[in-house]
Amino acid sequence: MQKQHDIQFQLETRFKTAIIAALGDDFADSDPMIRVAADAKFGDFQANAAMGLAKRAGSKPRDLATKIVEQLQAEEDAAQWYAKLEIAGPGFINVTLQAARLVGQLTVMASDDQLGVTPASPPQRVVIDYSGPNVAKEMHIGHLRSTIIGDAIGRTLAFQGHEVIRQNHLGDWGTQFGMLIEHLLDIKWDPNGGDHAISDLNALYQASKKHFDDDADFATRARQRVVALQSGDETTLTIWRGLIEESKRHFNAVYQALGVKLTDDDIRPESFYNDKLSAVVDALDDAKLLHESDGAAVVYPEGYKDRDGNQLGMIVRKRDGGFGYAATDLAAVRFRVSELGADRVVYVVDSRQKDHFGQVFWTVRAAGWDTIKDTNSENKTDGFAGENVGGGVRLDYVPFGTIMGKDRKPFKTRTGGTVKLAEVLDEAIERAGQVIAAKNPELGEAERSEVARAVGLGGIKYADLSNDRIKDYIFDWDRMLALEGNTAPYLQYSYTRIRSIFRKAGDVNAKATITIGEPAERQLALQLLQFPGVIDAVADSLEPHRLCTYLYELATLYHRFYEQCPVLKADDDTTRDSRLALCDLVGRTLQRGLGLLGISTVEQM
Ligand code: ARG
Repeated sequence: MQKQHDIQFQLETRFKTAIIAALGDDFADSDPMIRVAADAKFGDFQANAAMGLAKRAGSKPRDLATKIVEQLQAEEDAAQWYAKLEIAGPGFINVTLQAARLVGQLTVMASDDQLGVTPASPPQRVVIDYSGPNVAKEMHIGHLRSTIIGDAIGRTLAFQGHEVIRQNHLGDWGTQFGMLIEHLLDIKWDPNGGDHAISDLNALYQASKKHFDDDADFATRARQRVVALQSGDETTLTIWRGLIEESKRHFNAVYQALGVKLTDDDIRPESFYNDKLSAVVDALDDAKLLHESDGAAVVYPEGYKDRDGNQLGMIVRKRDGGFGYAATDLAAVRFRVSELGADRVVYVVDSRQKDHFGQVFWTVRAAGWDTIKDTNSENKTDGFAGENVGGGVRLDYVPFGTIMGKDRKPFKTRTGGTVKLAEVLDEAIERAGQVIAAKNPELGEAERSEVARAVGLGGIKYADLSNDRIKDYIFDWDRMLALEGNTAPYLQYSYTRIRSIFRKAGDVNAKATITIGEPAERQLALQLLQFPGVIDAVADSLEPHRLCTYLYELATLYHRFYEQCPVLKADDDTTRDSRLALCDLVGRTLQRGLGLLGISTVEQM
C-alpha cells in the first residue's frame, strides 16, 4: 500500500473517516485540511476542516469540530493515537499524538533505505523531456534550468519506483542548417576534424547568418541546401553529422561536469521524427482537425485567440511542404505514448513555450492520441502493459522562469554576451574553493578540490531548484555559496556536522531505541516524518523547491535540537543512543534529499 509510512496521510485518512461518520457519505470527498501545527505549543498537527464544512453541514464550526473529535475518540485504537484532541478558536482541532506513535514511525523510517517512501503503486512509465539544446550552438545559461530541474524530477520519480525514460529532444533539424552547412562547405570545413571547439561552431553559425543576410546569392544556395539535406544528399549529410557529433561532445562534457543523468542513449533528436511527420498530417486530417490556410495545413486549438479575437492556428505543415517545431512535437507525443509506452510525459521547457505546449496538448487530446498506447510494443516490459489504455496519458508541461542578473535583466556577461554554461561551472567550483579554504584552511589539497566541486555545483543547482520554478531568479554568487541560509552549502555543512559527531562517537548502538522527550526532539521527529509526504508533493506538483524548503527546515530544526539536547554528553546511554539515532536519520535524510536534487554531500568541509 502506498503512503503507509506517511503519518500526516494516515491522520488525514482517520479524519476523513470521522467526518463521514459525523456527517454522512455526502462528505466523503472533504479535505480535513491537516497541517503541521504552526506553533508546537498547540500540539503536533492542526485540522482546519470544520470551518469550511460547517455551512454545508448546517452547524456551527465549533459544534462540528466537537462531533468530529467525538468520532475520532470513538475509534477503537484512539488511545494509541491521540495524547490530546483540543478544539481551539473558531473550530480548529489541535492534535497531539502519542509519542509512541511518532517513535513507531521513526523506527520504521530509520530501518528503511527508502526512508519511509513506499514504492509507487502502480509504478508508471514516465518520459521526461529535458535539456534539449540546439546543435551548433553553445549551451548557455538558459539551458541550465531545464537540465537541472529535469534531472531532479527524474531522480525523484525514480526514487518513488517509477520507470523514468529520459528524452533529450536535441534541436538538430530546421532550415537554419541549410545556411550553416552551405557556409561550412564554402570554407572547406572538415567534418571529421574532431578537434573543433563548440565555440568555433558558434562563431561559424554567426558568420553563416551574416552571410545569409548580406548575400542574396548565398541565401539562395542556403535554401537549396535545405532541400538537399531533406532529400538525403550524402555530401550534405556528412557535414550535418559532423556538426552533430561535434555538438554532442560539447553537451556531454557539460552533462558530465554537472553530474546529471543524461547520456547519448537519451538523445532522441528532432530529426528522428522526420519519417513520422506525414503520418501526423494524415491522422489529423482523419480526425478532421486540419484546416487549410494560405497553403499551409493548420490546427486551431480552442482557447487561442489573438487580440482581435481571431483564432490562432498552429502550423503543422508549411506552405512549402516543410514541417516545423510543432509537427515534430506532435510526432514525439505519438511515439512516446505508443512506442515508449508512457503513462505520463513531462516537458521541462521554459515558460515562453507555454502556448506551444498548450496547443500541442490540446491537439493530442482532440485527436485521441493520449490513449493510443500499443500494448504489444516490444519496448514494453511486464507490469506496465496497457495501464492507461482508455484512461489517457498524463501530459505535464513544467515551465520555468528566466535567470536574471543583479540588474534584474536576463543574465549576461559584463560585455553583454550570452553567459556560457561551461564557464559558469568552472567559476562556481573556483569560487567554492575560496569559500572552503577560508572556512577550513586545514583541509588538504585533494579533499578541498572534491569539496569545492560538490559545493560549487551544489550551490548553482540549489539556487535554481530552491526558487519557485515559474519565477525568474537572480543569479548571485555570494548568495548561492553562502554557508548560512537556504543554500546548498548550508545543508552540505549541516551534513558534515552530523558526520563529525559519528567520527567522535566511537561505537554506535545500531539497534538503539528512539525516545522523544524534549520539545526540540519532538519537532525534529515530526519534521523527519514529513519526508514521504514531501516526496509525493514534489512528484505530483513537479516543484523541487518543496523538497528544498523541507530540507532547509530539517537542518534548522536539527541545529536547534543539537543546541538544546546534548548528544555525546547526554545524561545516560539510552538518551545518547537515541539522540545518535536521530542524528543518523537526519543525516541520511539530508543526504538522500540532496541526492534527489542531484547534489552530493561530503564528509568534511
Ligand atoms: N530545442 C528547444 C529549444 O531550445 C527545446 C526542446 C524542448 N522540447 C520539446 N519537446 N520541444 O527551445
